[in-house]
Formats: sequence, structure tokens, C-alpha cells
Amino acid sequence: MRPISAPTPQSRFRRLRASPALRSLVQENTLTVSDLIWPVFVRDGEGVSEPVLSMPGVNRLSVDNVVKAAQQAADWGIPAICLFPYTDASLKTKGCEESWNPDNLTNRAIRAIKAAVPQIAVMTDVALDPYNADGHDGLVRDGIILNDESVQALVKMALVQAEAGADILGPSDMMDGRIGAMRSALEAHGHSNVAIMSYSAKYASAFYGPFRDAVGASGALKGDKKTYQMNPANGDEAMRLIERDLREGADMVMVKPGMPYLDICRRAKEMFGAPTFAYQVSGEYAMIMAAAANGWIDGDKAMLESLMAFKRAGCDGVLTYFAPRVAQLLGGAALA
Ligand code: PBG
Repeated sequence: MRPISAPTPQSRFRRLRASPALRSLVQENTLTVSDLIWPVFVRDGEGVSEPVLSMPGVNRLSVDNVVKAAQQAADWGIPAICLFPYTDASLKTKGCEESWNPDNLTNRAIRAIKAAVPQIAVMTDVALDPYNADGHDGLVRDGIILNDESVQALVKMALVQAEAGADILGPSDMMDGRIGAMRSALEAHGHSNVAIMSYSAKYASAFYGPFRDAVGASGALKGDKKTYQMNPANGDEAMRLIERDLREGADMVMVKPGMPYLDICRRAKEMFGAPTFAYQVSGEYAMIMAAAANGWIDGDKAMLESLMAFKRAGCDGVLTYFAPRVAQLLGGAALA
């Protein structure tokens, strides 16, 4: 594309900004509720809705309340909900066995949602950190995060999630070879329609802090995740990871975090044309909420602007904790 513009006054860009009608006529991108995936935190118990202090407005919900949230989300037109478990410390082991327990918190929540609200797509997180006494996304031996052993565990975890009725698996672990291994296992076990959204370009980021509090992983984690998550300085590597994951059988790819990595979203969409998503992570959410709470920015406007930016960058959709708020503001309409 080579945009042409005449000099002023032949061209005056303000002509097409002069009224809401003209502005909407030439608007290039739209944001709607159907672009959103809502991440929710699940915990044990009944009737529980427990605030996550570092994420104002976000709660950890017991399974019965997660079902209610899913019903509400479906009524709002949110197409998918993504489950993250807050696992009791007593269930965390070095072997992460709870991760492939068919009756673990996530799998119970999947079954309950699918029984009550079958029309909403349920996405999961495939990574060992919620179940790991070491707090890492993979198995740890002598301080080393093991790759191939972790992949075997992740495949077991993916299969029980598919068995429970998950529609989309979200491997967020960043081990090498996990997408191919999961795809083969899904095919071999009759789950050929279960989709994989790979966290392909997941960076070792400071913006995950509030999430680790929300799932109770901050305490267990020793060290950082830099031997498996990406260096924020790298962009070409993200393209190689995305290509690799698509070849291994990912149906959709994700860039994470979101707003500081919009260049990666744009490059990924242009290079591969695959369904491309961004995860507006907990720290991004917390920053907007904190500034808004101080009266320093208009929270709703900053939220909608940040989400529109993902669409402009080429994303097909966004995982965002703001999903319910966006649904309340936009309803079935598109943002103008
Ligand atoms: C871990 C996982 C993380 C997030 C999603 N899955 C955190 C991490 O990698 O430490 C972050 C989400 C967020 O910050 O909102 N498998």
C-alpha cells in the first residue's frame, strides 16, 4: 500500500473528522464483545467470590460462581471464558500430579460450565505452575527446568482437559515441542476438534505480577522464567516460534503481554495471517485500574482505547480482564 495525499488545501484530513457520522464512515477498525476472551480465576469452595487485591474488580470464584459468570458472559455475547485455577498449597508437588487429575479444580469447572452453558467456549491454561511446589511452568530437577519431561506432563494435562470438555487448550508453558506432542495426543484420543491457542510469543515479563498473586504462585516461585519465556528484546525469535507452533498444529497463536508488544502482533498477523490474539495481562489491567482509581485517567476510555489498539495492530481478539466491563459498555454494539 502506498497512501496518496495531496497537499493542503486539496487535502484536509480534518474534513473526515468533522462529525461523528463521517468519523464512523471512515473508521478502519472495530471493537466488539465478540473479540473478547474473559480470563477468570477459579478456587475451591461454594458461594465464594474473593477479591484479588492487586486486580480491583477481579475475584477468585468457586465453581458454582464460575458457572454463573459463564452464564452472564454468554448472555453478554462474550464468546469464550478462560480458566485459571488457584490451587491449594497442599496440592502442589514437585511432580505436579494434580495437573492431570481429571477431578482437579479446572476440570470440575469445565464440566460444570459445559453442563450449564454449553454455548460458551471454554479455554484452559496448560502449564504446570499452579500445581508446582517449585512455582515453575515445567518440572524442576537440580534447579533446571526440564523440557521433554515437562512436555509429557503437559500432554497428560491437556488430555484430561479435553476429556472434561474444553474447547480451546492454551499452552502457556513455553516448553519446546509441546504443541506437536499435544496435537498428536489429541488426534490419537479422539479429540480432533479441540483447538489449540498457543502462547507462542510469551515474554519473561514483569507485567505478570498481579496474576501470580491471583493464582497463588508468587510464593512458590524461585528465580525467574527466563530460560523458557522470551527475552523482551527479541522480535525475530517471536516469528520463528509462531511459525514453529503453526507447523506443529496450533490453530491460533498468541502474543503476551499485549500492549508493550503490539509490534509483535502486527508482524505476526502480516507474516502468517493466522488467527492472532493478544493477552492484555494482569499488570496492564492493574495499571489502568490504579491510574483510574487515582483520578489520573478515565478508566473506561483508557480501557476501550487499549483494546482498540489490539485490533488496529492486527489481532483477531484479546484476552482481557476487562471483558465484562466492555460488555456492559458496548452491549452488542461496536465501538465508534
Ligand atoms: C503461567 C501463566 C502466567 C500468565 C498466564 N499463564 C504467568 C506466568 O507466566 O508467570 C499471566 C497472565 C497475566 O499476567 O494476566 N503459566
